[in-house]
Amino acid sequence: MNLEQQSREYREYIESYLRDFYAQFKEEPQKPLFESMEYSLLAGGKRLRPIFAFDFCRMCGGDWKQAAPFAAAIEMIHTYSLIHDDLPCMDNDDYRRGHLTNHKVFGEGMAVLAGDALLTDAFMVASTAKLPKPEDMATAIGLLAECAGSLGMVGGQVLDIMSEERELTEQEVLDIQSRKTGKLISAACCLGAIAGGADEAQFEAACQFAAGLGLAFQIRDDMLDVIGTQAELGKATGVDAEKNTFVRLYGLEKCEALVQKYTQYAIDALTVFDDPAYMTALARSLTERRV
Ligand code: IPE
Ligand code: IPE
Ligand code: MG
Ligand code: MG
Ligand code: MG
Repeated sequence: MNLEQQSREYREYIESYLRDFYAQFKEEPQKPLFESMEYSLLAGGKRLRPIFAFDFCRMCGGDWKQAAPFAAAIEMIHTYSLIHDDLPCMDNDDYRRGHLTNHKVFGEGMAVLAGDALLTDAFMVASTAKLPKPEDMATAIGLLAECAGSLGMVGGQVLDIMSEERELTEQEVLDIQSRKTGKLISAACCLGAIAGGADEAQFEAACQFAAGLGLAFQIRDDMLDVIGTQAELGKATGVDAEKNTFVRLYGLEKCEALVQKYTQYAIDALTVFDDPAYMTALARSLTERRV
């Protein structure tokens, strides 16, 4: 198993899948909307959520390409969440994925609508998945909506906004992080498992992995806001100083230890799989990510 090579294969596949999906609509008259959506969707990004979906599908015994509709849907929802997160009424950021933010190029109205359309189109794409157990489709779509909506990512973003005025407890910060970031990572791992025909133990393992990894991932994101550079990250740093992040609560050193702890919790969940080497190596590599 070669971490770099496997990651590249997954990444190239999702890039061309997303490109091909929107290529079908190039004769549509609402061109500026598609330009705005593709600007953010095809702007780079690590594609980690699609990678999780593909590899959980593979670990559960499926053909990983069968997870592509779910992987694409989650990346579209993730991209919409970033477009809206960057708006002046939210984090007010000028750069994302190394480019000007969507609203800086297309205006706020179009950025809001591009986000709306990516979210909605995601369900159109997800509904095309061919599952080993077709009766799992309703569960998968329901889970995707739950992870994205008021109980999931959007709910977490609301708690994040609400928290700006006061100090939070560790439990409250954990709750925000596991919703705003953890839930879409959960959707990626769990829908990947469903696409691979997971049994109950494998599905539970995917959920447990995602819970640990999602926390580790957002704590590292908050650390990079302090120790990273805009050149590395493609987005401004030092912007979350006023927010209730783990870095603010505990400082960098303890955060480093927490990233290790939650990553280990995630990796421990992978013991039910026959071939978890890739996912184990990927999770370890994310503890030291600079991007
Ligand atoms: C950034 O996510 C926002 C968070 C939820 C922490 P990523 O770090 O996965 O961003 P991209 O997709 O690689 O740009
Ligand atoms: C955003 O968290 C998580 C989302 C749901 C978009 P941040 O606001 O910390 O993400 P970045 O740092 O702007 O990528
Ligand atoms: Mg934010
Ligand atoms: Mg932000
Ligand atoms: Mg951040």
